[in-house]
Amino acid sequence: MARTLIAGNWKMNGLKESLGEIRTVASELGNGREGVEVLLCVPATLLALAAEAAEGSALKVGGETCHTAASGAHTGDISAEMLADAGASHVIVGHSERRMDHAETNETVAAQAEAALRAGLTPIICIGESLEQRKAGETLGFVASQIEGSIPAGADAEQIVIAYEPIWAIGTGEVASVEQIDEVHRAIRARLGERFGPEKADLIPLLYGGSMKPDNAGEILAVDDVNGGLIGGASLKAADFLAIYAQA
Ligand code: G3H
Repeated sequence: MARTLIAGNWKMNGLKESLGEIRTVASELGNGREGVEVLLCVPATLLALAAEAAEGSALKVGGETCHTAASGAHTGDISAEMLADAGASHVIVGHSERRMDHAETNETVAAQAEAALRAGLTPIICIGESLEQRKAGETLGFVASQIEGSIPAGADAEQIVIAYEPIWAIGTGEVASVEQIDEVHRAIRARLGERFGPEKADLIPLLYGGSMKPDNAGEILAVDDVNGGLIGGASLKAADFLAIYAQA
């Protein structure tokens, strides 16, 4: 059985004044609960400060993307090693917003995940279909191809996290139904089983992301193959994020 991970993704939100939310999560969380990891992925500008705010609690902090190289002439980019140095334990790679805004391909995402592993970070590899693909009945095939292409060749099952985020449910308030989530998560688990073997595949946390909120988190987290959430908007306020964690 995979461990549970409740992860927030602040995206391009948060100033120093927002650190109070992180302090609140850290102090409410304390030592946390056995088997449930809690993580906030924040903009790079806040990462070291967030790590400091989380110190002494079970709260982990992470980055939102990374370059594939460890260092070098890549103006404006941040390496996985830099994220680790700032206190990150995880990094999100292949979020659909990055795939769209920065033309990241499965190949790029696999290289980023490999860079994360090289730096000792856990990559949260994001996949998910567009509304057009869902309407065309292409969801399962598309998600399978993303899994195929976005997990680096040498990765062990224990080292990665997968987040299924249907693009049409991100930031729209339109959450996927429990049946839709169940169908896709089962298919992802089966695919991972073909790649890693069923026992190892069972250890990979599969997160759902897309308009997860305190009032729908309970039923989503209760789905068999859902091992947590990747939460955008509702992770910005400590009270909402903690209310989701309470249901994990
Ligand atoms: O990474 C998080 C997802 O994109 C979900 O965002 O909860 O604001 O819909 P959301």
